[in-house]
Amino acid sequence: MKIRKVVIPAAGWGTRFLPATKAVPKEMLPLVGKPLIQYAVEEAMTSGIEQVVAVTAVGKEAIREHFSRSPELERVLEQKGKMRLLEQVRLIPELADIRYVYQKEQLGLGHAVLMAENVVGDEPFAVILPDDVIDAEVPALKQMLEVYHQYGGSVIAVERVSKENISGYGVIKAEKVSQNVYRILDMVEKPKPQDAPSDLGIVGRYIINPQIFDALHKTHSGAVGEIQLTDGLKRLLKEQPMYACEFEGVRYDTGTPQGMLKASVSLGLKDPDIGTELRKYLRCLI
Ligand code: G1P
Repeated sequence: MKIRKVVIPAAGWGTRFLPATKAVPKEMLPLVGKPLIQYAVEEAMTSGIEQVVAVTAVGKEAIREHFSRSPELERVLEQKGKMRLLEQVRLIPELADIRYVYQKEQLGLGHAVLMAENVVGDEPFAVILPDDVIDAEVPALKQMLEVYHQYGGSVIAVERVSKENISGYGVIKAEKVSQNVYRILDMVEKPKPQDAPSDLGIVGRYIINPQIFDALHKTHSGAVGEIQLTDGLKRLLKEQPMYACEFEGVRYDTGTPQGMLKASVSLGLKDPDIGTELRKYLRCLI
């Protein structure tokens, strides 16, 4: 079945990025001049998704504005002859058909996904967490869609995570079925390092069957007092097979200042406009 919709949770407080996120949604923080959420929308679109369901909250109006037309700004850019910028600004609202749903209380990622239930309906869908930016030749979600079409069942992105960092992730127990695909046997959200069932940490990309909504309705708050998507998936795993895809690409956790800096430097070095100068600057610095 074709995956037509992607849910992009964008309602969190962004506490790891305070004070920057006091008034600015964390999803609007720039990574080499482009807001994080735009990377998520672009990855979805280049993977063949047709519709975005953005889960937002009070104080996140800038997200909707970003993806709307800006006639005043367009007029000014046109008058000043800044045609390249004008083109960029005009293209943003054309990127995707975006529906907005609100999460009134921030009760966790599982709860955020539940807010999209009515718009998603009874079909499998994708989820992209905009904090996790993945630089890949083939978009990570597209790689996962191939796994989904080959194996059926929900598909979760994973990568190897070091022991000292593993307790920041959902972690799977799994058996390998092909070079980059695992069948999931169990999963746990944010385990203590000694309790982690493997070093395969969940990364913010999912393709999920719609029965997840029932599973989430039955899921009570777990790790850090929130309704965890991992706990909902664990429940769903009892009813149907589920796979993990170890994607090819580099993933940056832009949800923290240090992750954002690493992503900015790495993607900045690749950027045709600023890469050369940034490389020179870094050489001088180190
Ligand atoms: C969420 C998920 C976690 C996953 C992580 C990936 O956690 O709950 O399972 O490993 O995203 O970024 P968060 O980072 O929102 O705490």
